[in-house]
Amino acid sequence: MKNITLHTLTEMKQDGNKFACLTAYDACFGQLVSEAGVEVILIGDSLGMVLQGNDSTLPVSMEEMVYHTRCVSRGSKGSLIMADLPFMSYATPEQAMHSSAALMQAGANLVKLEGGAWLAETISLLGERGIPVCAHLGLTPQAVNKLGGYKVQGRSADSAATLLEDARMLEQAGAAMLLLECVPSALAKAVTDAVSIPVIGIGAGADTDAQVLVLHDILNITPGRKPRFVKNFMADAESIQDALKAYADAVHSKSFPQPEHGFEK
Ligand code: KIV
Repeated sequence: MKNITLHTLTEMKQDGNKFACLTAYDACFGQLVSEAGVEVILIGDSLGMVLQGNDSTLPVSMEEMVYHTRCVSRGSKGSLIMADLPFMSYATPEQAMHSSAALMQAGANLVKLEGGAWLAETISLLGERGIPVCAHLGLTPQAVNKLGGYKVQGRSADSAATLLEDARMLEQAGAAMLLLECVPSALAKAVTDAVSIPVIGIGAGADTDAQVLVLHDILNITPGRKPRFVKNFMADAESIQDALKAYADAVHSKSFPQPEHGFEK
């Protein structure tokens, strides 16, 4: 795969071509995931759950994110590397700048943070300093205690309008990408159409510009009940490499996600 840049992804959006994003946390999977044709690798703070066994992402530290970002970036062969800013590492714009610098020096090409309009100043400061940002909206797992659980967001007319307004504001502030988690498919389509930056979805229907899933979920090795937006790509695969390629191909060919992976209202 040729080196993927933000420019590549914006062009893909403009041309109506979907791109794939998948989490990875180490060099070996960084390599396999990029060799499968996945354009964006996310070093997600989901590692707090799938690697560390916590019941939320809140305990993940900056040091841990830097370590895993460095590992993945060594293995990746041309995918764009996106790293999560962990809980409370971007509580102020200045703190966000220092935390993001550490992730960029570990090999990230952009950072992801969770939240709405309150992040506009932070995103604009990071952009001015050469750090592209993806803003994660909808179900923001770092706010699970405030949200009262891992619930679909944007179901009421008011909350949908706020989310759409936040998306527009964050694009204006300089966000390079958006990520929508667990929002009704129609709202995700409205956001995707309203902004010119690429929008990645998870549990957000088929109309976003890209899809993301957690590596352990598509390999069917996450214990317990699976969220409805997850698909087991190991089911018809002969190897992990086959499953990774099946995921990338399914996103590119628009055969994943299907309506049953999304939320109506
Ligand atoms: O941390 C993560 O893996 C994520 C994805 C679920 C989008 O943020």
